[in-house]
Amino acid sequence: GAPVEADVSKLEPGGLLRVKWRGQPVWIVHRTPEMLASLASNDPKLVDPASGVPQQPAYCQNATRSIKPAYLVAIGICTHLGCSPIYRPEVAPDDMGADWKGGFFCPCHGSRFDLAARVFKNVPAPTNLVIPKHAYLNETTILIG
Ligand code: FES
Repeated sequence: GAPVEADVSKLEPGGLLRVKWRGQPVWIVHRTPEMLASLASNDPKLVDPASGVPQQPAYCQNATRSIKPAYLVAIGICTHLGCSPIYRPEVAPDDMGADWKGGFFCPCHGSRFDLAARVFKNVPAPTNLVIPKHAYLNETTILIG
């Protein structure tokens, strides 16, 4: 499939934009400074906190799994059996456990991912979500694919 362009100029902090690429849902999340600051504290609870498994291009093998930390670009398909997880940027402590600071929740079998699309331990999904190849055409336009 051809690459697709995503315009993030109107994507508010904390918001999620969905685009389609090769028939797959691609998410773009505009992460706030608070969201970014919370990522590192998840590391001990994650299967692959340093993104050692190549589920992302080399240029996204970093702490935020991104080119620009403010924008997460991820394929919205659970790495367990392919359901599409739900964006849950904020979750009450009693909702899904005190450890959960928000991210993505797969309704099919309960896998959880953080706001860098990294998978938590003790869930069915084996790996982090896939980060697709992408590049910035300008400050607010992302080319996916
Ligand atoms: Fe997501 Fe099974 S498909 S947890």
